[in-house]
Amino acid sequence: MARREFFIATFLLNFIIINGSDPTAGNILKADEMLLDNQVLNSTNGIFQLGFFNIKNSKNRYLGIWYTNPYKTMVWIANSDHPIIGGTGMLYLSPDGTLSIQNNTGQNIWSIGSQQSRGVPQACLLDSGLLVINDTKTGKILWQSLYQLSDTLLPHVPLGYTKFLDSMLEIQISSWNITGIDPSPGQYVRKLDPSRLYELVTFRGSDIIYRTGPWDGERWNGFPKMNQDMVKFVVTAGENGAYFWYEPQDPSILWRWVLKSNGTTYRYYLNGSDWVEYWKAPDESTPSYAVCGPYGINFDGDCKCCMDDPFHPKNGKDWKNRIFSEGCERNVPLNGTNHGFVTLRHVKLPDTINAVSDGEKSRSECERWCQKNLSCMAYAYIRWQGCLAWLGEIIDMEQFLDGGDTLYIRVASKRHNRKLVLIIVPLSIVVVLILVVILVRKKIWWLFRKYRPAAVEQETYATNGQEDIRFFEFFDFDTIKVATNNFSATNIIGEGQLGPVYKGVLQNGETIAVKKLSRSAPNGNKQLRNELQLLARLKHRNLVKLTGFCIQQQEIILCFELMQNSLDQLLFGTRHREEVLELNWEQRSRLIQGTASGLLYLHEENGDTIIHRDVKASNILLDQKMNPKIADLGISKLFQEDRSVFTVSTFGGTRGYIAPEQQHGMMSTKSDVYSFGMVILEIIRGKRNTSYPSGLVSLVLRYLNEGRILELKDTRLRGPWSDGELKRCIHIALLCLLEEPHMRPSMRQINLWLTCQSIELPPLPDQASSWGNIVMDPLTSVYSSALL
Ligand SMILES: *[C@@H]1O[C@H](CO)[C@@H](O)[C@H](O)[C@H]1NC(C)=O
Ligand SMILES: *[C@@H]1O[C@H](CO)[C@@H](O)[C@H](O)[C@H]1NC(C)=O
Ligand SMILES: *[C@@H]1O[C@H](CO)[C@@H](O)[C@H](O)[C@H]1NC(C)=O
Ligand SMILES: *[C@@H]1O[C@H](CO)[C@@H](O)[C@H](O)[C@H]1NC(C)=O
Ligand SMILES: *[C@@H]1O[C@H](CO)[C@@H](O)[C@H](O)[C@H]1NC(C)=O
Ligand SMILES: *[C@@H]1O[C@H](CO)[C@@H](O)[C@H](O)[C@H]1NC(C)=O
Ligand SMILES: *[C@@H]1O[C@H](CO)[C@@H](O)[C@H](O)[C@H]1NC(C)=O
Ligand SMILES: *[C@@H]1O[C@H](CO)[C@@H](O)[C@H](O)[C@H]1NC(C)=O
Repeated sequence: MARREFFIATFLLNFIIINGSDPTAGNILKADEMLLDNQVLNSTNGIFQLGFFNIKNSKNRYLGIWYTNPYKTMVWIANSDHPIIGGTGMLYLSPDGTLSIQNNTGQNIWSIGSQQSRGVPQACLLDSGLLVINDTKTGKILWQSLYQLSDTLLPHVPLGYTKFLDSMLEIQISSWNITGIDPSPGQYVRKLDPSRLYELVTFRGSDIIYRTGPWDGERWNGFPKMNQDMVKFVVTAGENGAYFWYEPQDPSILWRWVLKSNGTTYRYYLNGSDWVEYWKAPDESTPSYAVCGPYGINFDGDCKCCMDDPFHPKNGKDWKNRIFSEGCERNVPLNGTNHGFVTLRHVKLPDTINAVSDGEKSRSECERWCQKNLSCMAYAYIRWQGCLAWLGEIIDMEQFLDGGDTLYIRVASKRHNRKLVLIIVPLSIVVVLILVVILVRKKIWWLFRKYRPAAVEQETYATNGQEDIRFFEFFDFDTIKVATNNFSATNIIGEGQLGPVYKGVLQNGETIAVKKLSRSAPNGNKQLRNELQLLARLKHRNLVKLTGFCIQQQEIILCFELMQNSLDQLLFGTRHREEVLELNWEQRSRLIQGTASGLLYLHEENGDTIIHRDVKASNILLDQKMNPKIADLGISKLFQEDRSVFTVSTFGGTRGYIAPEQQHGMMSTKSDVYSFGMVILEIIRGKRNTSYPSGLVSLVLRYLNEGRILELKDTRLRGPWSDGELKRCIHIALLCLLEEPHMRPSMRQINLWLTCQSIELPPLPDQASSWGNIVMDPLTSVYSSALL
């Protein structure tokens, strides 16, 4: 089924709003008649007048059409580049159909018309504000002002193009040289561009300034807020041409769209005696055309590459200096036919200058076609137009929080790479291990630091088996509302520090965890979005991935991947589930190592320092394979500037895990280290710190003194374990739990100790008071570290 309305070829020629004109009425100039300088034609509805006028302080005289009320507002000028200089003018319609403006000595200043009339022509000012010359015998239109619009587009007046006797007839609006002062032709035109796929485009000369994105039957793709517009937009298209016009929702309201001399189109409507500015584009907030270069995407005034994964800035140095014009390029160049597509949601689709559309193809045919044709770099499937395919570089994209369309961009296939990864990863792991051992021996830590991120990245690459990588999304509020059954209480799966966590099921069946935070300060949203984006970029196998968010006035909604379990449920049971899983030592040790690795990434390896602030068993979630994933990451960072919104206790962490300095509002990565130490002890003991009146640390110290430290381990611990590893973990935990933050190790050291058992741990301090003001029984006060 064709997706477009059929186009009537003669539409343009017959574009008339019949106003039932009475030939004697004041809206008609008959053949061989003159309209004198002081006379006007009135449209039948009284809204428009045609006559002569001056502009402000100029003596130049023009023939034009204006809105009569509340004061003359020009909507069309006949002789904009041929004014009558000094003196008055008159308008004459000759019997052959030529309309001419003469000055007061009878000289022709301007004329228009076909000279084709064999009958009796007449000029008529229509209710739509157009001037039409008509052959009253045949009814044929000889000329109309539509062919030569000024800077104003009136309601119901079509912009567009038609192929007419082998030539392209275009209807466009053109700016004045200086709006309001000099009506001679300016630099800008706005039109429905015949070389693109139904986009309204503003040009300066041949340079494109602004495009709306392709039409999808209801809206312009790059103009997401169109739905609640005060006017209705209409596009009609066919074999020979296409037209756009607008219709006010309320027909009693007068409108005009004006292309001003700096290239911005303004939309005004009349309220009382004021023209109210309703909308304008482009303006200061509109990204300039192609600002982010090929494959670059504008988001909220910034540029990013299509996806962090398959694309990177082509010129990284320029990019850092905010020169984005070179755009982005693929990490893996395209080669051969084995390509896949990555998905980009909520985008203003790229410039369609190099795109083709096909309304007959289905969505899957569209993908297959694009996959096969090696020049197809991206495709999209939108309403009305169907399959759009870009043959070559794509440019001028923007991403929105909501709206836009989904674009699929060709990238080198993952499957193809996976084979390579299978060979390269084991090889490189061996190489990296050898390097690490060498470096560790030589104690060149800072070098190690340089190599580490690469290793992490390869791992995530290798584990990412999806063909179609899922990216971070901006959800709209309604989607989340539906997914969580209107935040129904039955969907609550947990109670976070900042509010309940809901289980949500998206329309595609995917399950997510949804956290709703309220925030009293709606300003600074842009910064908040940037930070959310930063967080969304955090990618590590031991972090719960933030997959999307939504900002709705007072509320921020965060979406995460949904996890099965949390560590506290597993270790301590929960209100709902008393049975506790018996974890063996290997599993517990993996939990400790994974958590440590996630924290190291947060602290150092993501390119930023992010303090978690609330490391605890309930924030360590477990996937099906019992891999630990740290949750709630960096929420604290988001609210850093805004912490007054929440009580201090919310941000001071959780009882039982709070580092001593944290109670005084001092915060550093070492506070996370402290909390991590407590988590280690809880994993080993299988009990909460808070279930001991004097705390786990004093219990450990007591057991140490009594020479029975191995009894610290969970009584439910089954299977084999290593006394050495157990002791080593307790030793590390005690180092983490030291009172002085600077005495505590960094997550980097801890990771190394956990992975390389051969590295000797620093000795524990001699004084029990090193662990602060812990409640000690008499025995503990004579603490001796030698026993560990
Ligand atoms: C047009 O309307 C004005 C008043 O708005 C009136 O003075 C004038 O005579 C009318 N002209 C014609 C030709 O009807
Ligand atoms: C009328 O127009 C002619 C030709 O442009 C010009 O030479 C003449 O000076 C004009 N007359 C007046 C009174 O402006
Ligand atoms: C053109 O002339 C015909 C015949 O008189 C008439 O029916 C029609 O309304 C006229 N059109 C316009 C725009 O004046
Ligand atoms: C447009 O305005 C500029 C001054 O802003 C002037 O120099 C130029 O000649 C004008 N162009 C035309 C065609 O009148
Ligand atoms: C017009 O202005 C009045 C008062 O200024 C206001 O109440 C009304 O909402 C406005 N109407 C529109 C359509 O903007
Ligand atoms: C044109 O001027 C208006 C008002 O000063 C401004 O908002 C707009 O951004 C300008 N347009 C361009 C393309 O510079
Ligand atoms: C594409 O890769 C294959 C090996 O996978 C290689 O033989 C071929 O030369 C490459 N083609 C191009 C155009 O780089
Ligand atoms: C891709 O499609 C375009 C448009 O249909 C066509 O002109 C071009 O030849 C095709 N290229 C290949 C390699 O098939």
